[in-house]
Amino acid sequence: MNKKPIILGIESSCDETAASIITENEQGVPTILSNIVSSQVDIHKEFGGVVPELAARSHIEKIDLITKKALDESGVKIEDIDAIAATAGPGLIVCLSVGLSFGKAMASSLNKPFIAVNHLEGHALSPKLNSELNYPYLLLLISGGHTQFLSVQGLGNYKRLGTTIDDAVGEAFDKTAKLLGIEFPGGPQIEVYAKKGDPNKYLLPKPIFHKGGCNLSFAGLKTAVLKISKQIKTDQEKYDLAASFQKTIEEILYKKSKIAFEEFKKMNEIKKNKFVVAGGVAANKRIREVLTNLCEEEGFEAIFPPINLCGDNAAMIAMVGLEKFKLNQFSELDSPAKPRWPLDADAAFLKGAGVRL
Ligand code: KG4
Ligand code: ZN
Repeated sequence: MNKKPIILGIESSCDETAASIITENEQGVPTILSNIVSSQVDIHKEFGGVVPELAARSHIEKIDLITKKALDESGVKIEDIDAIAATAGPGLIVCLSVGLSFGKAMASSLNKPFIAVNHLEGHALSPKLNSELNYPYLLLLISGGHTQFLSVQGLGNYKRLGTTIDDAVGEAFDKTAKLLGIEFPGGPQIEVYAKKGDPNKYLLPKPIFHKGGCNLSFAGLKTAVLKISKQIKTDQEKYDLAASFQKTIEEILYKKSKIAFEEFKKMNEIKKNKFVVAGGVAANKRIREVLTNLCEEEGFEAIFPPINLCGDNAAMIAMVGLEKFKLNQFSELDSPAKPRWPLDADAAFLKGAGVRL
């Protein structure tokens, strides 16, 4: 019987310090042995957003403790780890450097292979931790910094079908929350407010709804929310605005996903098409429902990571590490942190004023 690989994953790209140990069972199914995430919400709350230097300092303070905890909880001895995988990008450079240096130092001292991981690839592969998922599949990545449709052809092989041309959807949730007076990070709270409101109270714009293929835009929506929020007086009006915002996002994601389905089908001829929705915003229950319904209508299988693996975590980084380990795809110890690291390096840069769709 061959020993199954044991991978340590480390994540510090933004405001979560995380470490995880994963392996696979006899059938080759990935198994999480520990998954420790330490959030810095309390540090950044008073500033209304992530302060990079404070985030980096906190990563430095916690990374060894969090890693030790992950080791202790997994019951794995440090010398039994087969490889160390750490997020190398994209993200805040001061934050990335902490986990990356720590991971390299561990790999070097233990004399084990080091694997530099793309954080977005971690999100992309996160459902493999609880579902059987073969390539190719369609991915909608919805997080605080990214909103993209990608055809995932294989490990490290991505074709971008669409992207936001301005804000990420998570950013739109967080900004709307801020305008409604909800404490940072407010995105998840919008869902709670929305349940108490009338989704048809405010008609909000859906930028590039009828053009641009499955590219998306949320900046105009944010501006409309800003205008309305200035006139709001009662709590009920806040709930109504949250509900109207949530509904608008659902409609945008439904329509754009439907277009992405067609583009994916043109690129890939497979029997059972799969649609993976990953990233922090994939924790939104209504978005899950709406996209699951769309999949039923269109003959796709909807796949979501479990809620606790939607946000940033190190199990998904270890998951990429596990796949790379099996293919002997190792990184040099001088591999750099990459604040910008698109999954599809060939895709055109589609951001800002003057973008033609
Ligand atoms: O993937 P993630 O943890 O970090 C990034 O890589 O960006 O995503 C964080 C984003 C935040 O914008 C947060 O507000 C949003 O995910 N988010 C949600 C929900 N839970 C987290 N947005 C809407 N509904 C939720 N339930
Ligand atoms: Zn993320």
